[in-house]
Amino acid sequence: MPGGLSGRKILITGPTGQVAEPIARALAPVNDVWGVARFSDPEARGRLEAAGVSCVALDLASGDFSALPDDFDHVLNFAVVRGGDADWDRDLAANAEATGLLLSHCRNAASVLHCSSTAVYQHQGPSHQLRETDALGDNHRVMMPTYSICKIAAEAVARFAAREWNLPVTIARLNVPYGDNGGWPAWHLEFMLHGHPIALHPEQPNRFNPIHEDDIIGQLPRMLEIASVPATIVNWAGAPSSIEEWCGYLGELAGLEPNFVVTDATIGSVTTDNTKLHELVGEAKVGWRDGIRRMVEARHPELLKP
Ligand SMILES: NC(=O)c1ccc[n+]([C@@H]2O[C@H](COP(=O)([O-])OP(=O)(O)OC[C@H]3O[C@@H](n4cnc5c(N)ncnc54)[C@H](OP(=O)(O)O)[C@@H]3O)[C@@H](O)[C@H]2O)c1
Repeated sequence: MPGGLSGRKILITGPTGQVAEPIARALAPVNDVWGVARFSDPEARGRLEAAGVSCVALDLASGDFSALPDDFDHVLNFAVVRGGDADWDRDLAANAEATGLLLSHCRNAASVLHCSSTAVYQHQGPSHQLRETDALGDNHRVMMPTYSICKIAAEAVARFAAREWNLPVTIARLNVPYGDNGGWPAWHLEFMLHGHPIALHPEQPNRFNPIHEDDIIGQLPRMLEIASVPATIVNWAGAPSSIEEWCGYLGELAGLEPNFVVTDATIGSVTTDNTKLHELVGEAKVGWRDGIRRMVEARHPELLKP
C-alpha cells in the first residue's frame, strides 16, 4: 500500500461501489478492513470477504450501528444513494443524516475521509476551472434530481461532525473516477458497443478531470493525513480531458465510432482547478489515455488489436 497505510483498523462504507471496491481490496492485505453496506449484491460481498474484508450488513440511514465496532483508526465514507425518482426524504436520510450518524458512532477515529463530488459546484461551463471556494449549486439535477443537494447536505454534516467531536475530516470532491472497475468512460464504451447515443452538452468541449482508481488508492493515505478540524475541503481530480476526447480515443482503440447527440438534458462541463490538491496531496500519476487503454484491456480485451 503506497504511503504506509498499514496495520490500521479501517472502516469503508459503500465497499461494493465502483470507487470503494478497489480501495477495499488494496487496503485489506495490510490492514484490518471492515466494510459496511446493505450488501444488495451478494457476489460483491463474496469478493470482499475473499479479499479479507469483514463485512457488516446495515442500512446507514437506519441509525442502528450496534453490529459495528466503534474503535476504527480511520473511516472512509464512500456510501451514496442517488435515486432517479426524486425521493428527497430517503436520499437526504441516506446521504446526509447517515453521515452524521456514522461519524457520531466513529467519533474517536484518528481521521475521516468523506467522499464528496464536484457535483456540488454551481455549473460554470467548460472554461472555468472550479476552485474549492467557488459557488455551490444544483449541478446534476438534470440527470440525478437529488444528488448535488444531498452531497452538499452531507458535506455540511461532515463539517459539523469535525467541529462537534474534534474529529479530523477531509472532504474530497471527486470528479470522474474511472478504471478497471468501471466509471463514466466505461459506460461510454458500453454505449458505443451497443450503438447507443452519447449525450454532449451544447457548451463544448464537455470538459472533466478523470482520475484513475490507482491514483485514488495512491492518494488515500495523504488524504487522511491532511484531515483537520475544521474539515479540509479539496478537489479530487486528474488532468483535464473531455467526453469528446476520451470517447474519440475509446473509438480509436476499439474500432468504434461514438454517436454523439447534443442536448441540454445532460450534465455540462465540471472541470477543476487542482492547485490545492497538488499542494496538499500531489498530482495524479496515471495519464487519461493510459488509464483508458488499461480500462479497455481489463473490461473488453477482445476489442484491442494485438
Ligand atoms: N462514480 C462516480 O462517477 C462519482 C463521481 C463523483 C463522486 N463520486 C462519489 O464517490 C463515492 C462512491 O460512489 P460510487 O459511484 O462508487 O457509488 P456506487 O457504485 O453507487 O456504490 C454505492 C455504495 O453505497 C452503498 N450504499 C448505498 N446506500 C446505502 C445505505 N443506505 N446503507 C449502507 N450502504 C449503502 C452501496 O451498497 P448497497 O446498495 O448494497 O447498500 C454501495 O456499496 C460517493 O460518495 C459518490 O458521491 C462518484
